[in-house]
Amino acid sequence: MSATVPMISKAMLDSIREDFPALKKKRNGLPPIYLDNACTTLVPKQVIDAINEYYTTYPACGEGRSRYWFAEDVTCRIEGDSGKGIKGSRQIIREFINARSEKEIIFTSNTTHAINIVALGFRFKPGDVVLLTDKEHNSNLVPWLRLQGKGLIKLDHVDSTQDDIFDLENLKYKLANRKVRLVSMAYSSNLTGYTIPAKDIIKIAHDYGIKVLLDGAQTVPHKTVDVQDLDVDFLAFSIHKMCGPKGVGILYGKREFLGQKLHESDETPDVIEPTILGGGTVTETTYDSYSLLNPPERFEAGIQDYPGQIAAGSAIEYLQRIGMNRINSQENQLNHFLTEQLLNRYGETGWFKILGPHDSSQRGGILTFEIKRPNALGIAEELSKKSNVMIRDGAFCVHSFLNKKFGQGWMRPGLPQEHRMLYRVSLYFYNTMDECQIFLETLNEIFEERSYV
Ligand code: ALA
Repeated sequence: MSATVPMISKAMLDSIREDFPALKKKRNGLPPIYLDNACTTLVPKQVIDAINEYYTTYPACGEGRSRYWFAEDVTCRIEGDSGKGIKGSRQIIREFINARSEKEIIFTSNTTHAINIVALGFRFKPGDVVLLTDKEHNSNLVPWLRLQGKGLIKLDHVDSTQDDIFDLENLKYKLANRKVRLVSMAYSSNLTGYTIPAKDIIKIAHDYGIKVLLDGAQTVPHKTVDVQDLDVDFLAFSIHKMCGPKGVGILYGKREFLGQKLHESDETPDVIEPTILGGGTVTETTYDSYSLLNPPERFEAGIQDYPGQIAAGSAIEYLQRIGMNRINSQENQLNHFLTEQLLNRYGETGWFKILGPHDSSQRGGILTFEIKRPNALGIAEELSKKSNVMIRDGAFCVHSFLNKKFGQGWMRPGLPQEHRMLYRVSLYFYNTMDECQIFLETLNEIFEERSYV
């Protein structure tokens, strides 16, 4: 961690935590200790206020459908109005990821939806290969498996090295020897927290004329992501993992790959087709034909989640006020502490193992550990019951990798002594050292009760 990276001071952290109503709740006299931020994050009052303001002040539809008071208020909060000094959420998001144009920012319902837009809209040719990592979330696997099942593409993946980091040599081999048309990879793994060297991967792929889609769900909320610096072609992420409302995601796509012609059939093969069409996607229709609007509208069919889209801007402004460097450094500091403590207490041999690289600075705010002990199930429930500590267990939607690693059916072994379970702590900037201590102490209590230690 660089000494110049600003930290979140105790006073700042106290003030941040005041913004989150859920952190003030108590159960059995104890506060919540929310450590499942890779799944979804808590929401500050500024974002809740933005949603409330929509429903109480201008609860109408936007996108220029209607030219009246409420509708104008909605549209200007999404698309901006420089005359009124209002920055729209699309512009806030564009600036946040440094896209060149607001036309490159497509609102979706989540990362999964954004990836599906590319999967279903990309004009594959028979024999095209889509290249993944070995640890994709089902969101960046199942859409491709379906296309493979229909004979439209072939799937391949880059295996990690023995140290569980990205294997650039293996990537180069696959790009040189397979008919790869698209590289589609998790920028940071939701299983291990490891972030792939995306800029190098994109440069290498582009040298072969291959496009790259990054699943940024676990990256964009945690560090500065600059799409122009990366030169990435498509980037998908979820606003609900960055203090925003549920049900809003983003697909960034380079302008030249999103289209500009009135009819899909006139576009070049590089351009993705909109797959869901209807109101809000067309300039006009006859009984026989339709003409498409330009991006992003052609990809945003039907009445949208206007309060969610407006609140997305509030969520990003909230993160910007804290600063992405501070957010990143707070998570790193907590993960470093937890990793050291867990390794000191239980070592890394036999029954306790941390997944991914040992070095916590390569795992962002994620710490997933494996327990291989009799009756290793149920620890997440016990943490919640005893101390309101909320962590996730299971396969984290990465069944493909885990089934290969542990063998099919590993989560339901026949004998209790063969039990193995994965538990994931995932941190965000509002988490504290005190919360980490309570997690560690409660975990140890459970281990003692189970005679693991
Ligand atoms: N992708 C989310 C997680 O890993 C749901 O928890």
